[in-house]
Amino acid sequence: MIIIPFPAHDPNAIQQAAALLTTAFAQHWPKAWPDLDAALEELHDCLEPDKLCLAAVDEHGRVLGWIGAQPAYGLTGWELHPLAVDPARQGEGIGRALVASLEEAVRARGGVTLFLGSDDEDGMTSLAGVDLYPEVTRHLQSIRNLKRHPYEFYQKQGYTVVGVIPDANGIGKPDIWLAKRLIS
Ligand SMILES: CC(C)(COP(=O)(O)OP(=O)(O)OC[C@H]1O[C@@H](n2cnc3c(N)ncnc32)[C@H](O)[C@@H]1OP(=O)(O)O)[C@@H](O)C(=O)NCCC(=O)NCCS
Repeated sequence: MIIIPFPAHDPNAIQQAAALLTTAFAQHWPKAWPDLDAALEELHDCLEPDKLCLAAVDEHGRVLGWIGAQPAYGLTGWELHPLAVDPARQGEGIGRALVASLEEAVRARGGVTLFLGSDDEDGMTSLAGVDLYPEVTRHLQSIRNLKRHPYEFYQKQGYTVVGVIPDANGIGKPDIWLAKRLIS
């Protein structure tokens, strides 16, 4: 497996990446990219020249996962979005490799901070299904992972939980925010 700039000229890679986005999010975030058209739109958006898009591919060029980022605060703060690994290939270090390569690419563009929001619409953490107001930060400090929400994957890559938007996806369905400083 290698990480490469997304092969935007390759129609097979585009179809594979879009299909993978839909299937990777289907279980816990079914509304995110419900069909191929929605996923293709997201992918084309990520391939805009001011953004970053990388793919993990196998020896046959098959897309195993992909990741995107866009500048959000000038060129210093970048938002990671989206990240998806083929469900059949999760747990092999592909997500970790994609994040590491993206960080390198963002740094090369002048990025200082990489951040992301990760929704919890499915009771995956202790922040879902409860009223986080008024003591939002207390809930945040005692966050627990109940169903392998990916916030813990990001923590393993050095990201810190920096915030939560209560009810972002409806009452009791928050968006959890993480960030990492890219330079020392
Ligand atoms: C989250 C995701 C990108 C992780 O990719 P992956 O290739 O399976 O992860 P890796 O194999 O690189 O795992 C790296 C480490 O994170 C851990 N990890 C991976 N997913 C995890 C999860 N959901 N919860 C807790 N830990 C997780 C692994 O156990 C591994 O730990 P280790 O370093 O102690 O061995 C992938 O599971 C995925 O695409 N999920 C569906 C979509 C999604 O959640 N995207 C991110 C939304 S913001």
